[in-house]
Amino acid sequence: MGKRVLIIGGAGFIGTNLSKHLIKSNMEVFCFDMSVPAKKVEGVRYICGDFFDDYSLMEALEGIDYVVHALSTVNPGNSNEKYLQGYERDFIQTTKLCKMIIDKKIRMIFLSSGGTVYGNQEIQPISEDALPRPINHYGNVKLCIENTIRTFNYQAHTKILIARISNPYGPGQDFNKGVGFIDAALKKTIKEEKIEIWGDGNNIRDYIYIDDVCRMLMVLFTYNGEFDTFNLSSNVGTSQRDIIEMLQEMGLKPQVEYLSARSVDAKKIILNNGRIMSVHKNALIPIRDGLREYYDWLLQKKI
Ligand SMILES: NC(=O)c1ccc[n+]([C@@H]2O[C@H](COP(=O)([O-])OP(=O)(O)OC[C@H]3O[C@@H](n4cnc5c(N)ncnc54)[C@H](O)[C@@H]3O)[C@@H](O)[C@H]2O)c1
Repeated sequence: MGKRVLIIGGAGFIGTNLSKHLIKSNMEVFCFDMSVPAKKVEGVRYICGDFFDDYSLMEALEGIDYVVHALSTVNPGNSNEKYLQGYERDFIQTTKLCKMIIDKKIRMIFLSSGGTVYGNQEIQPISEDALPRPINHYGNVKLCIENTIRTFNYQAHTKILIARISNPYGPGQDFNKGVGFIDAALKKTIKEEKIEIWGDGNNIRDYIYIDDVCRMLMVLFTYNGEFDTFNLSSNVGTSQRDIIEMLQEMGLKPQVEYLSARSVDAKKIILNNGRIMSVHKNALIPIRDGLREYYDWLLQKKI
């Protein structure tokens, strides 16, 4: 067997997809989550535990080579109400986790958010060196964690990596958790329900197919270069109106309801992916192909 990877929040959208890629690459995968999912990934070993319980966490880290930190208890939509939870719980516990993995000489990738860490920026696509200006507490909690990681990296000469993921979409996503416009648009179109768009639909995001995110993460497992922070993104901007048009081009009939714009949403976020693409050489899935692939998957699964 290959290296042992513990995915914290491993039963979620990104964790589940990443598990499948890791298993295919002969890694030994351990999923640490609150419960065992109804649909297990073959080959994955499931550990039920609470991230906020130090003892369970320490136990789960035993014998592990890599950790992927893939959970957040707040999302962009609710983080302004639940902001203290983000700082008191996610931030503090992740700081504890950093010390644990450093003491045990375990490598770690932290899943940050490219969509919200940067906020509104003039220069697009946004590179990793841009000054982050989060406009919601979810993004700022991520940034606090990132800065703590960079401080640990400097002090302990470690290389905990930070993956600033843009807007992933694909199998296993659930927009009810607070993010995922494409997921909502496809599922609501299939069910002939109205797609809610906050604002005029011209907000631009950088959508990336989940398999591309997983392949980029896989490359980071063996990365030994100079950088600690990476945008995982497509480098392409697409508005919500563009997505609606693409669904129409596919012969679908999306119905849209426009609601008042929200202060938690940045207008435009396109992330420069030059840094990750210098080590991840594969072509990315174009959005029209990704939409079709995810739509077919949803139909096949009767979701
Ligand atoms: N999905 C996105 O659009 C997106 C984009 C950028 C960054 N991210 C980040 O990537 C990470 C994973 O995102 P996701 O979409 O897979 O999230 P998700 O909500 O689908 O999965 C998170 C998992 O964490 C588990 N979890 C929650 N609290 C826990 C606890 N106390 N102990 C153990 N497990 C717990 C949940 O049960 C869930 O399975 C998060 O940190 C998120 O902020 C996600």
